[in-house]
Amino acid sequence: MKKWLQEHLICPECLDSQTALTLEIQEEHNDDILEGTLNCPGCGSRYLIQEGVAVIVPQKTLPHTKGHTTYNSQSMMSAYLWSHYSEFFNGPDATDAYRKWASYFKQTDGWALDIGCSVGRLSFELSKTHTYVIGVDTSLSFIKKARQLLSDKKLEFDLIVEGHITEERECELDPEYDYNATEFIVADALALPFRSDLFATAASVNILEKLPDPIQHLKEVNRILQKEQANFLFSDPFSWDESVSSPDLWISGRNKGPGKGRGMDNICQLIKGENNVFDPGFIIQEKGDVLWKIRKTQNLWEHITSQFVIGKRD
Ligand SMILES: C[S@@+](CC[C@H](N)C(=O)[O-])C[C@H]1O[C@@H](n2cnc3c(N)ncnc32)[C@H](O)[C@@H]1O
Repeated sequence: MKKWLQEHLICPECLDSQTALTLEIQEEHNDDILEGTLNCPGCGSRYLIQEGVAVIVPQKTLPHTKGHTTYNSQSMMSAYLWSHYSEFFNGPDATDAYRKWASYFKQTDGWALDIGCSVGRLSFELSKTHTYVIGVDTSLSFIKKARQLLSDKKLEFDLIVEGHITEERECELDPEYDYNATEFIVADALALPFRSDLFATAASVNILEKLPDPIQHLKEVNRILQKEQANFLFSDPFSWDESVSSPDLWISGRNKGPGKGRGMDNICQLIKGENNVFDPGFIIQEKGDVLWKIRKTQNLWEHITSQFVIGKRD
């Protein structure tokens, strides 16, 4: 974990008191902490930095960061590396979705946070326009891979063809990425370990429907964004799943109650300040659809319409 991040970290168990974490370094190399602990003087929680990866999640989130299921599986790794980087190895069917999401940002002095960053493509794109960028995800394997890209500055991986049959892929990345100004940590979108008002930009792309408490995530975005001069990129297919979150907590997709109506209409109302989830609200700058693709195997693809909106605070 890069040292420039440390002074901005708070304990994810103590968000109300915003207790800053103190750092104990066991091993470091060129301002990168390889082994160490981040300690909370308030509740006594300890968060490990191992092989350069900081895991700063509430105790109850920890089991979701490891194992070989869902977003930690080899098949998800292949699928998301293809989705994020196929433009660089000339995949004939590559998606330009991440370039499109990033194209809405102009040069700024501020920091950016990519929430649910997966293997990091949008974070790298945001490094072209922001002073510092942090990508966070609960998948330890995604964050390890994103950090490997930071150090190797190129991509090598096994692309799944069918079952256990894979093909090697490798490519250079965009030379304009600012690797020194980008960092990836394991963190939870529902309890972000950053002090309030730190970020000029937050991106929540294709993650809302994957969270057990979508409104809590949006409240966390509100907390960590600057009250002025801030941008929020939101994008989602709104493909709600009852095995992930209770329909009572969905922000849309219901016929009655608080989640009544369609996702794009309801998120725009919230972003504008309805129900005080975002305070102050944003002015809507742009909205539309991004066509996004995930490649599971040679013969299995997901084609997704992710609906986006950009909000701005002056
Ligand atoms: C559908 S993927 C989208 C990834 C990326 N934003 C993109 O558009 O390619 C959802 C991502 O959210 C991550 N995720 C799920 N629950 C999370 C949580 N509570 N906090 C942070 N990340 C989470 C998953 O590990 C996965 O990388």
